[in-house]
Amino acid sequence: MEILDGKKISNQIKDEIAAEVAKMRERGEKVPHLAAVIVGSDGASLTYVGSKVRACERVGFESTMVRMPSTTSEQELLKKIHELNEDKDIDGFIVQLPLPEQIDTQKVIMAVHPDKDVDGFHPMNFGKMALDMSTFIPATPFGILELLERYQVDTKGKHTVVIGRSHIVGRPMSILMGRKGWPGNSTVTLTHSHTKNITQIISQADIVISALGVPNFLKAEMVKDDAVVIDVGITRVPDDSTEKGYYITGDVDYENVSKKASFITPVPGGVGPMTIAMLLKNTLLARERHRS
Ligand code: GUN
Repeated sequence: MEILDGKKISNQIKDEIAAEVAKMRERGEKVPHLAAVIVGSDGASLTYVGSKVRACERVGFESTMVRMPSTTSEQELLKKIHELNEDKDIDGFIVQLPLPEQIDTQKVIMAVHPDKDVDGFHPMNFGKMALDMSTFIPATPFGILELLERYQVDTKGKHTVVIGRSHIVGRPMSILMGRKGWPGNSTVTLTHSHTKNITQIISQADIVISALGVPNFLKAEMVKDDAVVIDVGITRVPDDSTEKGYYITGDVDYENVSKKASFITPVPGGVGPMTIAMLLKNTLLARERHRS
């Protein structure tokens, strides 16, 4: 069994990006600038956005965090997005999800200019991704592809089972694994809450990608020998004995599944850090596109 070490690989990617940024500085060019909008004060969202901003500092990007109160109206948020679209200094930006219920998430996603949509959530970019055109690939699926590539995981002709059809992870992942090329060329099954015989389908998978958010969902008896197991779950479980008052756990019963798997991602330290690294990569790409 080999651990797909997202922490290690994400650090390598950040080093590569930092080297690119250093060259940009030497040439006297503008460096990439990422903005992150956060509405409200959800603890997990604040942690994620904080990590994204710190990652920018680490690689030498400029970053701007825009904090708006939980009472922000849809119109106020759309106005802010319009400002960021127009701001020549900002190369790319994200609006952290989920949003408060008074705001229509689809309208927000549509309002972000596709050239600055480093999350890859705009229908224009999502459509390009599905059609194999060059675009911003959503950071979490992009990070999983990068892990599979750097560990030389064979995906051709394999049966990939994706669990969960979210717009951020499951849906794009299912498209990407079925695309031509590598990592890809897989035969994909996208499973969700209405899937019948889900355990039977999972037991046939060469590659399992679980993006469900249910701790300990995936058990050893559900996966076949030598399966590749990717755990996208990041659930906070309250625990007063820890410093933060919670611990993070994935969808996979790691202790037992790791004994059967050929490759597996740990939580934390697997997919999570890769998401941040690939957001930086998309932002670098946005800068390069704006330059040319
Ligand atoms: N919420 C959870 N994951 C993400 C992400 O990748 N981007 C944004 N904007 N919000 C998220």
